[in-house]
Amino acid sequence: MAEQRATNITWHSHHVTREDREKLLGQKGVTVWLTGLSGSGKSTIAVAAEERLIARGRLAYVLDGDNVRHGLNKNLGFSPEDRTENIRRIGEVSKLFTEAGVIVFTSFISPYRADRDLVRGIHEAGRFVEVHVAASVETCESRDVKGLYAKARAGEIKEFTGITAPYEAPLSPELVIDTSAEPVEKSVERLVTYLAENGYLGS
Ligand code: ADX
Repeated sequence: MAEQRATNITWHSHHVTREDREKLLGQKGVTVWLTGLSGSGKSTIAVAAEERLIARGRLAYVLDGDNVRHGLNKNLGFSPEDRTENIRRIGEVSKLFTEAGVIVFTSFISPYRADRDLVRGIHEAGRFVEVHVAASVETCESRDVKGLYAKARAGEIKEFTGITAPYEAPLSPELVIDTSAEPVEKSVERLVTYLAENGYLGS
């Protein structure tokens, strides 16, 4: 848990509620948390799902690991402590998005179960949907889109998830997507169907 350092701070309530915003948007704010190895397909699925929802007139937004590490989290590396802080910050950001009524897709390896559970814990019930993008290390390594597995094998990247750093798979995610077993369109279809059936996309 991050330490609370600020004192003399007061919580200000809004006059506009999340429900007001959700009525305006015709949807329910939710964090759709994609977790899985590098190269498992998280970002591809997130970006495609975002596009699909926007085409349906729904407000969606992707928070992506590589992108967030260029800005908000540029001071964090890949040690266990830094990954925990990375996920904590993104968890808080995604929660703010859900309070704004947005459907946010997060695309972070988020290898530690405790970190993901912490993020689930700060969201209200039903506002956090965990999706395990479950491609195996073998599959991700054979794709090696960014050439990082080769570098990790060569010892050029330390603490690389799946090779020299752990990945703790979710125990009871809301959804499991195996990108080695089905094409991206099928995965996105299943994800969007899940969101529709569970009332996130309005009528
Ligand atoms: S997380 O573990 O803290 O959740 P995050 O999703 O933000 O990771 O960033 C992962 C991305 O950073 C990978 O997709 C890859 O492009 C890059 N990366 C660089 N070094 C590492 C590393 N040691 N382990 C995993 N990913 C790395």
